[in-house]
Amino acid sequence: MAILVTGGAGYIGSHTVVELLNADYEVVVVDDFSNSKPEVLKRIKEITGKDFTFYNVNILHEHELATVFRAHQIDAVIHFAGYKAVGESVEKPLMYYHNNLTGTLVLAQLMQEYDVKKIVFSSSATVYGMNNVSPLTEDLPLSTTNPYGTTKMMIEQILQDVYVSDPTWSIALLRYFNPIGAHESGRIGEDPNGIPNNLMPYITQVAVGKREALNVFGDDYDTPDGTGVRDYIHVVDLAKGHLKAVEKVLQTKEIQAYNLGTGHGYSVLDVVNAFEKASDQNVPYNIIERRAGDIATCYADPTKAKNELGWQAALSIEDMCRDSWNWQKNNPNGYEE
Ligand code: WQD
Repeated sequence: MAILVTGGAGYIGSHTVVELLNADYEVVVVDDFSNSKPEVLKRIKEITGKDFTFYNVNILHEHELATVFRAHQIDAVIHFAGYKAVGESVEKPLMYYHNNLTGTLVLAQLMQEYDVKKIVFSSSATVYGMNNVSPLTEDLPLSTTNPYGTTKMMIEQILQDVYVSDPTWSIALLRYFNPIGAHESGRIGEDPNGIPNNLMPYITQVAVGKREALNVFGDDYDTPDGTGVRDYIHVVDLAKGHLKAVEKVLQTKEIQAYNLGTGHGYSVLDVVNAFEKASDQNVPYNIIERRAGDIATCYADPTKAKNELGWQAALSIEDMCRDSWNWQKNNPNGYEE
């Protein structure tokens, strides 16, 4: 029962590999380290005490990826590999469309060739666009405002069309909200390249002294304190949601989208306050202008995942802040020694 994990050395991928190994799955990881580091693989083995197979492969390279399918009896695929920076995608759309779409097409064609028709896809709440009102349900119309989000929406459409052509496939489209936090060990966590785009890694870098202060992108939204409201979910809860989705696709032949969120929205200042309390660190901040493309409020209705996957988030915003800080303070330079 081998599970192939593309992008398994990444932030969410590595946490998911830990949970797969803890559940005694045989795991095969492919990653090209374009947004991760080899050190992660050692940390996963350290945390779990278990081994897994790794290939340093870019999924765009069909012949290299084919060797993986030939060497292993793959029962299902969890597909994380892809670029994910919203701002970068606006600057470099062709790089995003080629990497994310072509990589998925190469993967899906090899899955078809080797009769592997079960996939869990790493999608994103960003496909709900700016016109839907939270709490968000999976049946809402999709739209996107940046090339990164559009690749996610296009891949969902590609997989939908594959299912229509061959209903013996089983496909789970997991729409993540805002993953934060880290494994309780503090040995794996979020390690963004350069200046963090996302809120929590920026906060932790301020707390550890790498950044002067947090810039809060606007406090004039129609929210309780004027700052943006999001559905933050602990990355370990998210990883466990993937295990439930793998169980589902192994047992069924269908295509379903699922929101992986807590169903609760927290503002930027809520997160800052919760982090300061959990870490006992001060996080100075400045209120500046809104960031282009941001929406006021975005949070999930996670009912479908609860009813159909038997999954719901269990960890609190305090747990998320505590574990984010534990990772950052123990690894001030991420995975760089
Ligand atoms: C959260 C809130 C910001 C940074 C993005 C992608 C989404 C997914 C998750 C990949 C917002 C505010 C942030 C900062 C701030 N990524 N903020 N100062 O934009 O909700 O979602 O990441 O799948 O696709 O769109 O997450 O963490 O960037 O922002 O004030 O330095 O924090 O305005 O309200 P976002 P985020």
